[in-house]
Amino acid sequence: MGRFAYVNHRFVRHGEAAVHIEDRGYQFADGVYEVWAVFEGKLSDSAGHFARLHRSLRELRIPEPMSEAALKVVLAETVRRNGVRDGLVYLQVTRGVAPRDHAFPDPAPAPAIVITAKSVDLEAAERRAELGAAVITQPENRWGRCDIKTVSLLPNVLAKQAAREAGAVEAWYVDELGLVTEGASSNAWIVDQAGVLRTRDVQANILRGVTRASLLELAAEMNVAFEERPFTPEEAKGAREAFITGAGTLVLPIVRIDGANVGDGTPGPVAKRLRRIYIDHARRGAD
Ligand code: PDD
Repeated sequence: MGRFAYVNHRFVRHGEAAVHIEDRGYQFADGVYEVWAVFEGKLSDSAGHFARLHRSLRELRIPEPMSEAALKVVLAETVRRNGVRDGLVYLQVTRGVAPRDHAFPDPAPAPAIVITAKSVDLEAAERRAELGAAVITQPENRWGRCDIKTVSLLPNVLAKQAAREAGAVEAWYVDELGLVTEGASSNAWIVDQAGVLRTRDVQANILRGVTRASLLELAAEMNVAFEERPFTPEEAKGAREAFITGAGTLVLPIVRIDGANVGDGTPGPVAKRLRRIYIDHARRGAD
């Protein structure tokens, strides 16, 4: 089956899909995006991702490209046309096409929209989760509005590359107070020495992860003690467990931080259980 992309209200072959050279996403990173995990052809945690998409667009004063109902139809159709059963769907909306000028174009152009979908090998992801993964730390160097899911991701790209070169899957940003904010494309968690689940509060300059929010609800339902409270890399290295969450990684145990083992260097029971519970929740709630 071929790959197809949805570009400005048309489905086109993936290999031929293109945007204008004066798309403001291309020139200024003036746009936002969302990523949904797909299970059995359906979008998981769909409402949370839509809510964050609307908020990101509002914060940047980019008009909605179409109604949520219409978006749902084209997202589902992109998933279907690409034959994706389990995978990811990516949506990007930019301020549109206009002659290059930093301030917003007036009159406002139509926002430009792109949707792609790809399959993920769930068995390979499961094998990786069973082994656990490594993270490195990097100084926080992003702008002050990381709550907006913008395509302006150069610091994240550089941090992720540093991680890859160090044999790690993710980089955890550490702010000027010496506290972990989040990963380059995921939220950061530990199970501390008291057995309490901890992740940074959303008053901090982080993305309000949809997976993070769902997992906190699931933890509350399961009576797992949690705190939205920051931790240092040292606390994380000395924690019982660590893990990351996101639409791409779901819940992924972290077994090494800057080369130091977390616990005995294997995935911990809480992270493993939360991964199972989150995946069950995501499958059941997918629509
Ligand atoms: N990233 N923090 C950052 C900086 C992220 O980019 C992401 C998601 C998350 C987790 O958010 P969620 O649980 O809503 O996926 C946290 C996506 C997957 C990406 O950039 O591909």
